[in-house]
Amino acid sequence: MRFITLEGVDGAGKSSHIEFIADAVRTKGLHSIVTREPGGTDLAERLREVILRERMPPVLETLLVFAARTDHVARVIRPALESGTVVICDRFTDATVAYQGAGNGVSRQLISQLAEAAHPGLKPDRTLIFDCPYEVSSARLAKTGKTLDRFEREDRAFFDRVRSAYLGIAKEEPRRVRVIDASGDVAAVRGQITSALQGL
Ligand SMILES: Nc1ncnc2c1ncn2[C@@H]1O[C@H](COP(=O)(O)OP(=O)(O)OP(=O)(O)O)[C@@H](O)[C@H]1O
Ligand SMILES: [Mg+2]
Repeated sequence: MRFITLEGVDGAGKSSHIEFIADAVRTKGLHSIVTREPGGTDLAERLREVILRERMPPVLETLLVFAARTDHVARVIRPALESGTVVICDRFTDATVAYQGAGNGVSRQLISQLAEAAHPGLKPDRTLIFDCPYEVSSARLAKTGKTLDRFEREDRAFFDRVRSAYLGIAKEEPRRVRVIDASGDVAAVRGQITSALQGL
């Protein structure tokens, strides 16, 4: 197991646990890196700024997400995996299926074709979906006090579609994808993460 991705609605707690996961991997004697999407390279981080700030048609948003991902996979993810490093990535193509697909109505077929172009043959070995109700994630985001990006400001109906899409992916691919109940406290979430990483 070398490519681990974290998914879930904004505010569920992905970023809060990513270093814990990296430490768990290092404890097993494996080298690991932490990265994120959109982003992870200079070019992809510049695209991230545009994606998170500008309103744009959903297909354009999807193309930009995959443009960023193409660079990230080529320059960071594949070289790391090829050298035996475990890659832990905050969001990947499942996020596109959930946000641009279920959230914003882009076809699954287009997303699959772009995924095949951006990262042929590459799928995460394990994906953890941080799942919680809208009330929990929105309250956590509000509590941070930071200015929310345009995805974080989406309404409940949008996040309900995103959440359902993630749970659908988990059902379709139970071997790869594990659902973490992210509504509990940090210790409860960590316990589930440890179980979900077993078999590493
Ligand atoms: N289990 C938890 N209990 C209480 N608060 C939490 C928990 N996990 C995370 N938080 C808090 O919720 C906020 C959002 O968490 P975090 O930034 O990790 O979410 P995220 O899933 O990465 O969101 P985004 O998709 O917007 O990046 C942070 O302020 C964090 O401290
Ligand atoms: Mg985050």
